[in-house]
This record gives sequence, structure tokens and C-alpha cells, in this order.
Amino acid sequence: MAEHSGLFVTFEGGEGAGKSTQIRSLADLLRRRGYDVLVTREPGGSPGAEAVRHVLLSGAAESYGVRMEAILFAAARNDHVEEVIRPALASGAIVLCDRFIDSSRVYQGATGNLEPDLIEALQRVAIDGVVPDCTIILDLPADIGLKRARGRDAGAAPDRFEREEIETHEKRREAYLEIAAADPARCHVVDARGSEAEIAAAIASIVEPRAKQLAAGQPGATETVG
Ligand code: TYD
Repeated sequence: MAEHSGLFVTFEGGEGAGKSTQIRSLADLLRRRGYDVLVTREPGGSPGAEAVRHVLLSGAAESYGVRMEAILFAAARNDHVEEVIRPALASGAIVLCDRFIDSSRVYQGATGNLEPDLIEALQRVAIDGVVPDCTIILDLPADIGLKRARGRDAGAAPDRFEREEIETHEKRREAYLEIAAADPARCHVVDARGSEAEIAAAIASIVEPRAKQLAAGQPGATETVG
């Protein structure tokens, strides 16, 4: 039986797209409007998942291959969902999550070459029905994102390693756009080249109407399969 409660919004995008700044700004706006907001992130977001985050981001799991990494991301996600996200949604909160399932599809799938069937099987187990109501994809050309992330002069020509990185980022960007095209009811692509204020306004125009529906007693499509 499907049960509806809370509003689950995830944020996705490559490096330098400004996800964390935008999440903070949206959380502030929604709190000012009186909503109960929980900000969280992946990998991590719960004590168990933060322990796995350390293993993943330190590179300790890298030498064991992309399958191992994907399974660890999924294990961390399951703990995060069960310990933090599902209870918050059940209490009617708006959950803003920095990265979620689409990061696995893009990083382990599109650029890690992991088989899509395995990724989807892992996701099913990891989220157990807690599907985002709305996913904001901050879209930025890879060269701009990489330079922003490093605080470099956007006009400088990339060296060989940067060109390789740019190719990888461009692949990820395309993968995100494909996910968005395949699931337009959930995914909203926001052009991240604008000013912080412009991007914040674009995001608010997507999320605020959904928050209002929630307040009016018509919660989002968060499905909790029980
Ligand atoms: P983080 O330091 O949180 O940075 P960012 O600002 O890019 O979100 O790093 C998270 C890294 O983990 C990022 O490179 C993307 C990667 N990642 C995956 O590869 N798969 C996943 O499922 C998730 C959630 C993250």
C-alpha cells in the first residue's frame, strides 16, 4: 500500500555546480515560511553511513573495484534512508538531500561502467520505496564547473589532465540530462550558470509550490511501501 507523507527533494550535479550553497539557501527560505526542514547529504547523513563515507571518499575501497564501491554506496544509502530520511518524511518534514540515487547511476553507472541492472537492483534494496518526489539537477558545462570548483580563472586553457577530467564531467552531465529526460515528472534541470540569486529563485519556483501542497494536506508522491 502506498502511503504519502512529507516532501523529499534531492539535489544532483557535477563539481562546482553550487549544490550546497543552493540547499542552504532553499532550507533558509522554507524555514522562514514555517516548514520543518531537514538538510542531509550522501554519502553519509546517518552515523552508519558517515562511517562508510569515510571509507569511500578516502579512496580505501577504490582498489577493490566499482562493484564494491557501488555496494558500499548502497549500504550507506540504506542506513541513511532507514535511520534519517524515512522517519523525517513520516513526520511530515521537507527533506533536502545533497546527492542520492542518481549519483550512483551517473558516477558508478555512466562513468564507472557498472551494469545498469546491478545499479537498479542495488537502488531498490537501498531505498526500499523511498523515491524522491522532486530532483533538482544543477546543470553546468564541465569546464566551468571544474574551474569554479577549483577557484581558477575561467579563461585559462585546460592542461592534459584537466581535459581528461572535463571529458569525464561532460559524460556525467550528459548522463544526468538523460535521467532527467527519462523521468520529467521527478527531475528538473536548472541552469547553474546564472548568479546564486537567479539559481535560488529557479529552485524555489519548483519546490515552493510542492511545499504549499504539503501544507495544504496534499503531500508529495513519497512512496513508502509497507
Ligand atoms: P562530496 O565531497 O560530498 O562532494 P560533492 O560536493 O561533489 O557532492 O563527495 C561526494 C562524492 O561521492 C562525489 O564525487 C560523488 C560521489 N558519489 C558517488 O560516486 N556515488 C554516489 O552514489 C554518491 C551519493 C556520491
